[in-house]
Amino acid sequence: MRIIFITWLFSIAILTILCIRTIPVYSQCLEDQKSLLVNWTPSNDYCGWKGVTCDQAGHVTGLDLNSEFISGGIDQSSSLFSLRFLESLNLADNSFNWKQIPSSFGYLTSLKYLNLANAVTATSEPKFNNPSSESHGLTELRLDGVNISAPGMDWGQAISSSLTNLRVLSLSNCYLSGPIDSSLLKLQSLSEIHLVSNNLSLPVPEFFVNFTNLIALSLSDSNSYGRFPEKIFQVPTLQTLQLSNNIKLQGSLPEFLQNGSLQRIVLRSTNFSVRLPDSTGN
Ligand SMILES: *[C@@H]1O[C@H](CO)[C@@H](O)[C@H](O)[C@H]1NC(C)=O
Ligand SMILES: *[C@@H]1O[C@H](CO)[C@@H](O)[C@H](O)[C@H]1NC(C)=O
Ligand SMILES: *[C@@H]1O[C@H](CO)[C@@H](O)[C@H](O)[C@H]1NC(C)=O
Ligand SMILES: *[C@@H]1O[C@H](CO)[C@@H](O)[C@H](O)[C@H]1NC(C)=O
Ligand SMILES: *[C@@H]1O[C@H](CO)[C@@H](O)[C@H](O)[C@H]1NC(C)=O
Repeated sequence: MRIIFITWLFSIAILTILCIRTIPVYSQCLEDQKSLLVNWTPSNDYCGWKGVTCDQAGHVTGLDLNSEFISGGIDQSSSLFSLRFLESLNLADNSFNWKQIPSSFGYLTSLKYLNLANAVTATSEPKFNNPSSESHGLTELRLDGVNISAPGMDWGQAISSSLTNLRVLSLSNCYLSGPIDSSLLKLQSLSEIHLVSNNLSLPVPEFFVNFTNLIALSLSDSNSYGRFPEKIFQVPTLQTLQLSNNIKLQGSLPEFLQNGSLQRIVLRSTNFSVRLPDSTGN
């Protein structure tokens, strides 16, 4: 009974959110998709609603419900998890009270982009076990502001064992602690790693150089200390490196690669000794 109620509640939530902004465009809606989305408004053309994206066949492929004051209604059994064609789901800035991220996210086998930033009020473990196959196709995961409150071994292994296609991992302000597990290196597609505002409380691991596609690394305000591995500056793909607000982090700028990609280095409030190139030209 509770499950039915919650599913119904979720339908209402979606309907309320979407209907207010209904702009019917043209009818490409499929009956099964429609009944999953809102099972009691058969005449609405959901593909035209703001925040809903469909493919040409009328399957819902994108749902953007960020900042919609949703506080309940999505749990394990939510009809949301039957939208098997969903590729992009943005639920950021809501307030779900989950002890764990519902494992039903694993049923969304087409999902590539998931944003739950600032959407979860309780502690939530980042587990994405896919019931149907070993690895999930998710390429972008944003959980910023979600209290994961886990040591690096735990979150590192949870993510590296299930999300092997990940390109963007954003876990800023997640109450993470170190050490960072090197099993993350299994994720060789990782190109953006954001771990800002966590208490990692450790030296920056040198194994970041082993991510061969690394474009952006953000470790600002992470209580990183010790000597920053100079080799990281020489990762040929690296464009952005943010290290600010780690007052105990030491280092110096090395010779930069002639053909490197670095565009932006932020060292404010660190203990780097920065010697600018000699202006006499020698
Ligand atoms: C984060 O979760 C942990 C473990 O559940 C809890 O002890 C801590 O108080 C939480 N922190 C915040 C700011 O909610
Ligand atoms: C950060 O973590 C370290 C080690 O666990 C702890 O000693 C320190 O108090 C923490 N700092 C903050 C600001 O929570
Ligand atoms: C990173 O790569 C270097 C050189 O290729 C290798 O020696 C090292 O063991 C690697 N580190 C990890 C943690 O895999
Ligand atoms: C930069 O040049 C070095 C040798 O000069 C080469 O090995 C490396 O692949 C180049 N990197 C990029 C990103 O082009
Ligand atoms: C900054 O680095 C210098 C050495 O380069 C060291 O003497 C000093 O204690 C460091 N300061 C902090 C806050 O770690």
